[in-house]
Amino acid sequence: MPNVLIVGSTRGLGQGLLKAYLSRPSTHIFGTTRSASSSEAADNVTYVTGVDVAKENAGDEIVSKIKSRGETLDIVIVSAGYFGLESFDSPDWAKQVQMYTTSSIGPVFIVQKLVKADLLKPGSKIILVSSESGSITLRHESEGGGNYGHHASKAALNMVGKLLSLDVKDKNIAVGIVHPSFMRTEMTKGVGFDKYWDAGGDIAVTPDEAADSLVKFIDTFDMSKTGQYWAPRGPSDIGTAEPVLGKDLPTPLQLPW
Ligand SMILES: NC(=O)c1ccc[n+]([C@@H]2O[C@H](COP(=O)([O-])OP(=O)(O)OC[C@H]3O[C@@H](n4cnc5c(N)ncnc54)[C@H](OP(=O)(O)O)[C@@H]3O)[C@@H](O)[C@H]2O)c1
Repeated sequence: MPNVLIVGSTRGLGQGLLKAYLSRPSTHIFGTTRSASSSEAADNVTYVTGVDVAKENAGDEIVSKIKSRGETLDIVIVSAGYFGLESFDSPDWAKQVQMYTTSSIGPVFIVQKLVKADLLKPGSKIILVSSESGSITLRHESEGGGNYGHHASKAALNMVGKLLSLDVKDKNIAVGIVHPSFMRTEMTKGVGFDKYWDAGGDIAVTPDEAADSLVKFIDTFDMSKTGQYWAPRGPSDIGTAEPVLGKDLPTPLQLPW
């Protein structure tokens, strides 16, 4: 039975991924929650509670729960994320610390603990949920600057993913970095981006739609793409893709760093 770990499974994309894997036969899902309690789980879901990815012990918490069940993992997806709005006039120290610890530092410690605990078998896959906002190449004058912590913490995650892919290559563990698409979630609503949900032809998708696309992408993801940065749903929701990369781009789209 394949075992899937979803880090950050309570809302948005993480919850969509949990539902998508739940619909697959013979799949067991471990879903982390930051709070100490969780909603009632289906038979093939185990919640790992009290996991704050911005804290150093997050990996230990996950390892101890999975080890206590005597399981190993086939797929690990780190989806947890936080977006704090900033501008040049109001950069925010505390928000930046939260974004970097959540997006770029936490994943290193979680993946390292899982691998060192031998919870990932050869052939397993690690997917780090980044964003096209982490691509330096895709930044373009049409969208301006600002949101330093959001963009830069995802750029740092991209670097982390590349380095981790090199560290676990000889174990035959594939590491992918993905932009899941622009989604109608609390994250985008919380920073006022819901005003763009319907702009330019309904570009924002539900987290369930994004999760379905990501799960299909993960099915095809293997060592041939390890250390790479991909947009499974292609360029349509990436406003700077055409101005920077040109027309007639494929789906899925490999993104530039
Ligand atoms: N939404 C988009 O358009 C978009 C675009 C590109 C990339 N992404 C990326 O996609 C991922 C999911 O985004 P989303 O829109 O689904 O976000 P969301 O709706 O705001 O959900 C965020 C999830 O992350 C968890 N989380 C946040 N901080 C955490 C922490 N310190 N420790 C543990 N869990 C934590 C939340 O748990 P709680 O319930 O405990 O808060 C929640 O489950 C993020 O990495 C995001 O950067 C999103």
